[in-house]
Amino acid sequence: MQILDGRKIANDIKDEIAGVVSTLRSNNKKAPHLAAILVGDDGASETYINAKVKACERVGFRSTLIRLKEDVSEDKLIDHIRNINLDSDIDGLIVQLPLPGHIDEIKVKQAIIPSKDVDGFHPENVGKMALNLPTYLPATPAGILELLTRYNIDISGKHCVVIGRSHIVGSPISILLARNSSPGNATVTLTHSRTKNLKEITNKADILIVALGKSSFVTSDMVKKGVCIIDVGISRIKSSKTKSGWKLLGDVDFESVKEKASFITPVPGGVGPMTIAMLLKNTLISSLK
Ligand code: GUN
Repeated sequence: MQILDGRKIANDIKDEIAGVVSTLRSNNKKAPHLAAILVGDDGASETYINAKVKACERVGFRSTLIRLKEDVSEDKLIDHIRNINLDSDIDGLIVQLPLPGHIDEIKVKQAIIPSKDVDGFHPENVGKMALNLPTYLPATPAGILELLTRYNIDISGKHCVVIGRSHIVGSPISILLARNSSPGNATVTLTHSRTKNLKEITNKADILIVALGKSSFVTSDMVKKGVCIIDVGISRIKSSKTKSGWKLLGDVDFESVKEKASFITPVPGGVGPMTIAMLLKNTLISSLK
C-alpha cells in the first residue's frame, strides 16, 4: 500500500507557484491577491480560512480576509461581494461555506463575478466545467485529479465510484472523472444516501472517492483488493490525547482498509492540502489574465 502524500505534493505545487510570483515581482508586476469572506465563527470554517490565508503568505500572494457576524444580512454580504467584484486589485474571491441558514447559498455564488470565482462555484463556471470548456475547476476535485496525475494513476477506462453528491466535491468530481479529457475517461458511478446495495457497488470500484462526511464509514468489507482510495472526509472529533483537543478523522476506516488498498490518502495530509494548493493555482491563473 502506498500513501498518496497530499501534503508533499501540495508543497511542491506551492513552491512552483511561489517561483512564478517571484518572477512576477522581479518584473515589477503585482502579486496575486485573494479575498476571502467568512461569515460567523464556525470552528472548522475558521481553521480552513486561516489555512488559506497562511498559504497565500507562503507563496507571496496578498490576501484580504473579511469577517462578518453570523447574523449578517444576505444583502450586506452581497454588498461586500459587489465591492470586491469591482476592486481591480483583487484577483480571486471565495466565500467560505457553509453559510448560516438565513442566507441563500446559490444567490451568494451567483453574486460573485465569474472571472474572480476561483472556487469555481458560479453556475456559469460549473456549466463550463461540465462542457469541458476552460474555467476554474473547484479546488477539491481539481486537487484529487492533480494528486492522481502526479502519482501516475491512470483513470482512463477505470471504474470510479464516488460516495456523496455534494456541489463542492461529489457532483463535480464525478463529472470531471467522466469527461472526455486527460485526466478523465473513467466509468463513473455516483452513489448517495438513497443508493441501494452500496457495498456491492463499492466492491467493484478500482478507484473509490469518499466524500460524505461520516467518519470511518468505509470499512474493509466494502472494498476490493488493489483499490485506490481517496478520502475527502474530515470530521473533527473531541480528543483528550491531542494538544488542540481535537482529532481529525476521514470517511474511511484507514486501519481496516489499509491492507487491501494499493493507494490511499491519509487524513489529515491527503486531499485537504491539495484543495488549498489548487485554490492558489486558480488565483494565480486569474491574476495572469
Ligand atoms: N467549504 C468546504 N469546502 C469549501 C471550498 O472548497 N470552498 C469554499 N468556499 N467553502 C468550502
